[in-house]
Amino acid sequence: MAHEISALVFDAYGTLFDVHSVSRLAESLFPGKGAALSVAWRSKQLEYTWLRSLMGRYEDFSRVTQSALEWALESLGLEADDGARRSLLDEYRRLATFPEVPEALRALAEARPLAILSNGHPEMLNAVVEHNGLRPLFRGGVLSVHAAKVFKPDASVYRLVEDHLGVPRTMMGFVSSNGWDAAGAKSFGFRAFWVNRAGAPVERLGVRPDATVKDLAGIVDLVA
Ligand code: LAC
Repeated sequence: MAHEISALVFDAYGTLFDVHSVSRLAESLFPGKGAALSVAWRSKQLEYTWLRSLMGRYEDFSRVTQSALEWALESLGLEADDGARRSLLDEYRRLATFPEVPEALRALAEARPLAILSNGHPEMLNAVVEHNGLRPLFRGGVLSVHAAKVFKPDASVYRLVEDHLGVPRTMMGFVSSNGWDAAGAKSFGFRAFWVNRAGAPVERLGVRPDATVKDLAGIVDLVA
């Protein structure tokens, strides 16, 4: 059965943009270690967002991303000069979308406003959206947690987009491939659609997504 929703909100990193597209540059800088660096970097980046939120020590996502990179490099025994660090960080401004994303967004945007809600600092988020030519599709806005000074899955973050769009939370579809983010959105009261590209087990966090799809094309079939 199709879900009736008034607006769709998307997570950015890992959902629209493939964070592991950094592994190509990482591999050219550190042959044989590119994928491991990419995985360690991403998992430490998320861990730092959760820890900083719990500690009440918000700092913007570009700095969190930089600290996580430093940790990941050291954990793998990799030495990188300032130029190499800078180019790895710059990759975040031009991450590739997953292949089906532009077409799925175009189809979805016809019937309802689309928005992004991301941990990303507004400047880095805008850069990657522009780089991929997606700006015109997000007439609902490109929103950052930076306005709330806390990271997902704090409820005040999801409230940002509810307030911005003026759509009741039960009519808002929230799309994320991060299972914990889909859980956060569901816990807040959004309709949560989990994009489970990797066939991962569902998070045991006391709430379940309303639907699970394997990529963004699946969302097109899901919403009325
Ligand atoms: C984001 C994180 C979850 O884009 O990747 O908010």
